Amino acid sequence: MLFKQQALLRQKLFVLGSLAIGSLLYLVARVGSLDRLQPLCPIDGRFGSRGQDEIPLRALQFKRGLLHEFRKGNATKEQIRLHNLVQQLPKAIIIGVRKGGTRALLEMLNLHPAVVKASQEIHFFDNDENYAKGIEWYRKKMPFSYPHQITIEKSPAYFITEEVPERIYKMNSSIKLLIIVREPTTRAISDYTQVLEGKERKNKTYYKFEKLAIDPNTCEVNTKYKAVRTSIYTKHLERWLKYFPIEQFHIVDGDRLITEPLPELQLVEKFLNLPPRISQYNLYFNATRGFYCLRFNIVFNKCLAGSKGRIHPEVDTSVITKLRKFFHPFNQKFYQITGRTFNWP
Ligand code: A3P
Repeated sequence: MLFKQQALLRQKLFVLGSLAIGSLLYLVARVGSLDRLQPLCPIDGRFGSRGQDEIPLRALQFKRGLLHEFRKGNATKEQIRLHNLVQQLPKAIIIGVRKGGTRALLEMLNLHPAVVKASQEIHFFDNDENYAKGIEWYRKKMPFSYPHQITIEKSPAYFITEEVPERIYKMNSSIKLLIIVREPTTRAISDYTQVLEGKERKNKTYYKFEKLAIDPNTCEVNTKYKAVRTSIYTKHLERWLKYFPIEQFHIVDGDRLITEPLPELQLVEKFLNLPPRISQYNLYFNATRGFYCLRFNIVFNKCLAGSKGRIHPEVDTSVITKLRKFFHPFNQKFYQITGRTFNWP
């Protein structure tokens, strides 16, 4: 009998304990998400100020949940009107560089409560067919947001496509442009690795990187190879500078974004005139992935897809040396133009 009573008591204590722990976890999770929602303060500079009264946090959290639904296309016209949601043209664009870390940059900026990302690459300015559909088509591709938030999209092909600077200029001559770069040879190998993986997926064979990067007739760097050309950052940037002053660009160090993302993100917040809201709390190193992942709150974390952070094939060291020597003068020019120096060889 006594034994039965003790077992019953233990059971009750267990249930009470679980309830207490559950409530505690719920509270911590809420604090985490509130912390993320809190920083909706005025955004100055070109983005203008909110021009609205503060929205109570609880209402905001509710609205965030709604926004998520809206992004999935579940919003009714009535809900959109009621919550004053709009599809805004981007105030900043990550124009490249392909394999520089463009996805990581976009996802990390999206941690900021005043930023809303366009999830897909829209390819409006680099694709003639899309561009012919007009600016309203582009705007309709943007996610719903509150008027005080800024929309950011990324399409890395913009950086290297001839027509794009003029087209973006025509849309908004004061737009902010983000370029994320990596050491040029590493970027070229990363570019090659992506294409190689695509070929392998289709059971196709492909050339070795060395064969593509070096012209077999001259034994010099093959400047016709796209992965090489894309890494000549200064050549592309010079085309953009015919339309936009250098102050409208911000260069992100893609190598540092991998190892130490927070300071890079803080520089971007500053450039975008956003109040500093992304913190170390939002970024944690995932040893299994070997990369930083994103923490929105205690319950919601995410790492980038497995296609980001591929293992590169080994490349002949003499080819690497040749490429580095080739890129060197272009890199110097790039440092000079941008005012940002990197420790590239
Ligand atoms: P690798 O696959 O060569 O490692 P993009 O998004 O422009 O295609 O860039 C992909 C690169 O982003 C990856 O190149 C990877 O190194 C880099 N990257 C930067 N931060 C990352 C992160 N937190 N998680 C995964 N990849 C990241």
